[in-house]
Amino acid sequence: MTEMGCIGVVGCGQMGSGIAQLAAVNGYEVWLHDADSVALSKARESISSRIENLVLKGYLTKGKGTEAIRNLRCTSNLEDFHSADMVIEAIVESEDVKKKLFVQLDNIVKSSSILASNTSSISITRLASVTSRPSQVIGMHFMNPPPVMKLVEIIRGASTSDDTFNATKSLAERFGKKIVCSQDFSGFIVNRVLMPMINEAFYALYTGVATKEDIDAGMKLGTNHPMGPLELADHIGLDVCLSIMKVLHAGLGDSKYLPCPLLVQYVDAGRLGRKKGVGVYNYR
Ligand code: CAA
Repeated sequence: MTEMGCIGVVGCGQMGSGIAQLAAVNGYEVWLHDADSVALSKARESISSRIENLVLKGYLTKGKGTEAIRNLRCTSNLEDFHSADMVIEAIVESEDVKKKLFVQLDNIVKSSSILASNTSSISITRLASVTSRPSQVIGMHFMNPPPVMKLVEIIRGASTSDDTFNATKSLAERFGKKIVCSQDFSGFIVNRVLMPMINEAFYALYTGVATKEDIDAGMKLGTNHPMGPLELADHIGLDVCLSIMKVLHAGLGDSKYLPCPLLVQYVDAGRLGRKKGVGVYNYR
């Protein structure tokens, strides 16, 4: 089985920086890549301050915290991934962009390295097909925020080997996560079930069933969810929710997955959720 020492993470957004934090805290050498060097230095600062908080709260010893911060290296040059045993991609949810990245990574990393995607819905089989190592390509889907949420969904593509699966499972377990395994169909398990609920909450708002506050309170208190569906959409990112609905609709072909026009309109207006300061709610 592939021994992991060095992990590359591509993309320093909410998911990529959370995954890099998990890897650094669990003793791995980490390279975090993003083309945007300003975003990268902000990500480094926020990961360091989250690790310092873990030390302050007593979850990590001071020594482990210092080691974790030392484990994390940031780069805008993908070539630095040449020594990575595994690369986890957490970039924009676009099949074309991810495929271009996989072609580049396939040429840079060692022949033994695993290429994982944190995609929330895109076919692992199709991403693997652009590489020379489809047996070493896998879906490793973290939930947001990765350091807090207990689950990692593992998705095997049509050619993923048992070795790749076992190495990925061990890594997720080293991160302290429970795993579930999904077949490679649009949306996998979590988003197949979650996104239609969020989309339906947008329809409820769009058709005037109730206010956003009452829709959220109804689901939060009525079904014991930590967040209401509209608040959760703002947390995930409305652009991410929309692109997952489009993948569900294209991949499963049922009109029940058509994105709600209100969700589309919010995304068109740049109301992408918490990360932009405004989504369904205003955070400014
Ligand atoms: N990174 C790291 N740690 C974070 C964090 C972040 N972005 N946000 C919060 N935390 C930590 C806090 O430091 C705090 O830690 P302690 O308990 O040790 O103090 C803990 O999480 C709780 O945070 P808060 O007290 O600030 O807030 P909260 O109790 O309201 O919890 C929450 C926040 C964990 C996000 C909670 O509201 C929750 O679980 N919401 C639902 C999130 C969810 O469903 N995520 C999955 C979305 S689906 C998905 O991700 C798949 C996809 O492809 C779209």
